[in-house]
Amino acid sequence: TTHVVPDARTAGSLVAERIARLVRAVPAAVIGVATGSSPLPVYRALADLVDGGLDLSRVTWFALDEYVGLPPEHPESYRSVLDRELVAPLGLDRLRVHVPEPGSDPYAAAAAYEADIVRAGGIDLQLLGIGGNGHLGFNEPGTPFGIPTHVAELTHATRRDNARFFPSLLEVPTLCVTQGLGTIGRARAHALIATGEAKAAAVAAALTGPVGPECPGSLLQRCPDVFVALDDAAAGGVE
Ligand code: F6R
Repeated sequence: TTHVVPDARTAGSLVAERIARLVRAVPAAVIGVATGSSPLPVYRALADLVDGGLDLSRVTWFALDEYVGLPPEHPESYRSVLDRELVAPLGLDRLRVHVPEPGSDPYAAAAAYEADIVRAGGIDLQLLGIGGNGHLGFNEPGTPFGIPTHVAELTHATRRDNARFFPSLLEVPTLCVTQGLGTIGRARAHALIATGEAKAAAVAAALTGPVGPECPGSLLQRCPDVFVALDDAAAGGVE
């Protein structure tokens, strides 16, 4: 189902409700989470639901991705970002929030992370943002749909997009460990949030364009249970 709403805050509330619906039915759910700007309204709305009594204490969380070459305590590592934006405001146990730990052997870390997800029983609901070029996680256009968690190179465009979080472009890492499109595709349900005009073309390509690796987001057309929340600007290309 695709919901188009006037603003990011409302989109965030809808996705938070989708998550709450899962957790009320399955208190020990496994939920995949994203970093970046898109999910922030979801985390804010979830914090309100927690204040209202929603119990997330038995949920296990898996991040989509992590940079290679930043120590976990670096303020822009996704470990730190999720500690700040998810763990703290929702009062979660940070040990229940898994993030790839590339350390000195990112290839081993990628394999270990995939195994951790399998051991947890797989992901019940994967929360996603989408890149302006259609990427999911750090799976850039051209990445095969079946690939598991792996080490990937960031494109120049993605490094430029993410440079806003770093003192300069030079400091943006060039490699990451990311859940693969195979990993993401195996989640039993998905929730995509996209807001702003810069996402309109990618959203249209993902939801209504041809299915294939040229648009990683088009993988969602093959997934059986996809909840999409868009603001008017991001939905511009769909209607
Ligand atoms: C985040 C991630 C990325 C972002 C995408 C959109 O963990 O893997 O795919 O979801 O780059 O980023 P924002 O939301 O900042 O526009």
